[in-house]
Amino acid sequence: MSEILVVDDDMSILSAFEQLLTEQGYEVSKALHGQEALNLLSSHRPDLIIMDIRMPGLSGLEVLHRIREIDRRLPVIVITGYGTMETAVQATKLGAVDYHLKPLNPEEVLESIAGALESVRLMERPVELDGESSPAQGDLIVGRSRCMREVYKSVGRVAETDATVLIRGETGTGKELVARTIYQHSLRAAAPLVVVNCVAIPDTLLESEFFGHEKGSFTGAEKKKIGKFEQADGGTIFLDEIGDMPLSTQAKLLRVLQDRSFERVGGSERVTVDVRIIAATNRNLEAAIQQGQFREDLYHRLRVFTIHLPPLRDRRDDIPRLAAYFMERFSGEMAVDKPVLTEDAASELCNYSWPGNVRELQNCIQQAVILTRGYPIRSQHIVKVLSTIAASKAGTDDTPARFGELKQLIHDYLQTYQGNAAHLEFLETAEKLLLSEAMRLRHDNQTHAAKFLGLARPTLKAKLDKYGLISGL
Ligand SMILES: Nc1ncnc2c1ncn2[C@@H]1O[C@H](COP(=O)(O)OP(=O)(O)OP(=O)(O)O)[C@@H](O)[C@H]1O
Ligand SMILES: [Mg+2]
Repeated sequence: MSEILVVDDDMSILSAFEQLLTEQGYEVSKALHGQEALNLLSSHRPDLIIMDIRMPGLSGLEVLHRIREIDRRLPVIVITGYGTMETAVQATKLGAVDYHLKPLNPEEVLESIAGALESVRLMERPVELDGESSPAQGDLIVGRSRCMREVYKSVGRVAETDATVLIRGETGTGKELVARTIYQHSLRAAAPLVVVNCVAIPDTLLESEFFGHEKGSFTGAEKKKIGKFEQADGGTIFLDEIGDMPLSTQAKLLRVLQDRSFERVGGSERVTVDVRIIAATNRNLEAAIQQGQFREDLYHRLRVFTIHLPPLRDRRDDIPRLAAYFMERFSGEMAVDKPVLTEDAASELCNYSWPGNVRELQNCIQQAVILTRGYPIRSQHIVKVLSTIAASKAGTDDTPARFGELKQLIHDYLQTYQGNAAHLEFLETAEKLLLSEAMRLRHDNQTHAAKFLGLARPTLKAKLDKYGLISGL
């Protein structure tokens, strides 16, 4: 359970936070002023601090400064009133991960807490490479196959340099684990790691999320904002799913890679930062370049040091080790005996294609342990679990296979064109194409084309009229 220290001189705010946060399952400690918070910190470290910036005695900024001296990575979220906007911006420069204006919006505060704690997890949960001693807590990157040993060598070679790293591999192959390992073994391990998932943020907000914005630079920008790159100054930034970054942001990122500087959205001041960049993607960047969705110059900048994570089906000799590792882990978590895996079950695992890679294997073992609760895991258990996994996947995607390519096109379309007209433009264009193709195949005979499409003839005619598709008449 994560522990949050709330620092505010207003008792009622402290109690409100205590209620909100305990309801969410956090453990809460409280301090009425900065000095009290610092005293607490000398003996005990919470996972996150929420602090009012304006307090009697030591100012919030001074407290923040001291906290940074004690622990550069401890996330601090700052609360501020309208009069103290500039202070909030200074606080972000001092490493506060976020700030919120009073009156507070609990949803937003909870969201930024969750985001900050996720970064902490990435920073602090240790990852070790297979072959070293097994970490008592934390994660192990399991695998001794030749291709994984190559991965470890690359990690070792690049971690302590400041080089930009691009991590590639299918979904679930361990890209995030490798990013964490590089960070934890880097010279910047004591400084923060800022994580941005490029898919999770709408295109229109991504640029300001990355680079910040000046007050009033666009509708909704009521306050000046410090972006992730500025927050990561002195540390590392992890750009996850970089292949899904919109083109406009790519142009700006390219400049950051070239000279480590950028302008905030709506601003003209050049901001220079010292950040190490780690990026990951499961997309085929070469194809994205062909389709005009990824900048070739950015690609060349990024790929200087690339780590490829092999799909699990290409390193099947790692499957038994991985299975044993997950059995140990999940049986421990569930407090049941560590199960054995029968030979049949092991070969079932080794022969499966694992489209979801290690993540899918992990889910499979977890469910098998739940199913057998300490008793041997047999092949029928594996078969059963795999078919449940397949069924739940089918449930989330019931698009007929013949539309697979269309689905990809739609995905790509939405990456590039968003906005008010995206829905209408797409449907109209698709319908127009469908109708004109049917008419072409039926030699402009409306009766035949209507039959072909399963439409009534008057309906088809009305649609052809609408789109101006009636030729020659
Ligand atoms: N080699 C490995 N050893 C142990 N666990 C692994 C390994 N690779 C992946 N995992 C586990 O599998 C899950 C998925 O890994 P991770 O999130 O790093 O994948 P990813 O490549 O970032 O996937 P995505 O592209 O979907 O984001 C995690 O729970 C991770 O701990
Ligand atoms: Mg990932």
